[in-house]
Amino acid sequence: MHIDIITVHPPLLESPFSHSILKRAAQKGLVTVNVVDLREYGIEPHRKVDDYAFGGGAGMVMMIEPIANCINDLKKQRTYDEVIYMTPDGETLKQNTCNHLSTLNNIMVLCGHYKGIDERIREHFITKEISIGDYVLSGGELPAAVLCDGIIRLIPGVLNDETSALSDSFQDNLLSPPVYTRPADYNGWKVPDILTSGNTKKVEEWRHEQSLERTKLRRPDLLL
Ligand code: ADE
Repeated sequence: MHIDIITVHPPLLESPFSHSILKRAAQKGLVTVNVVDLREYGIEPHRKVDDYAFGGGAGMVMMIEPIANCINDLKKQRTYDEVIYMTPDGETLKQNTCNHLSTLNNIMVLCGHYKGIDERIREHFITKEISIGDYVLSGGELPAAVLCDGIIRLIPGVLNDETSALSDSFQDNLLSPPVYTRPADYNGWKVPDILTSGNTKKVEEWRHEQSLERTKLRRPDLLL
């Protein structure tokens, strides 16, 4: 999979892809993440990428020309399955969307800033708009990193234990069961006996019950 991320703040996206699972995915050649600096398409002499909103009001709007030129340039190099805009008024990101996006070949992710982007970009270039939750962040970079993490870890071969992504919370609309590791007794706080019984069938049953209980208690909406 290839991911291009368009941003006015490339350094904000350095760390998430330089560590742990996302770094390993790139090293294994399973994903390439290319961060594109929108300023390179800014309007001279000052590489301007934003301007005042028509009709007035506070806050700057990201201009159409730099973004259009950048997207068109990228499109000369490959065909994109989705051109995604990170925005608080997009569809809320869910596991299903991550599952679907992880099957694609090429995606482009545009990070917004300021008051947003010129609406014509959304009308003519963007194929999907995604929010990571009902709160507003200062820009689309952290949401883009969240989205990419959610996608990349699902690409076959990225996780060592392939089954572990399948047992994540939300994969079957259930939250994950509690987990424990050694010591089995910490100052009298004991691990449930069933987990040290060696009875794998009973352990699976217990985990499923715990998942259901936890989901009923914390996220009953998932069971509807
Ligand atoms: N940009 C700012 N806030 C955002 C959010 N919640 N989701 C996606 N992009 C954003």
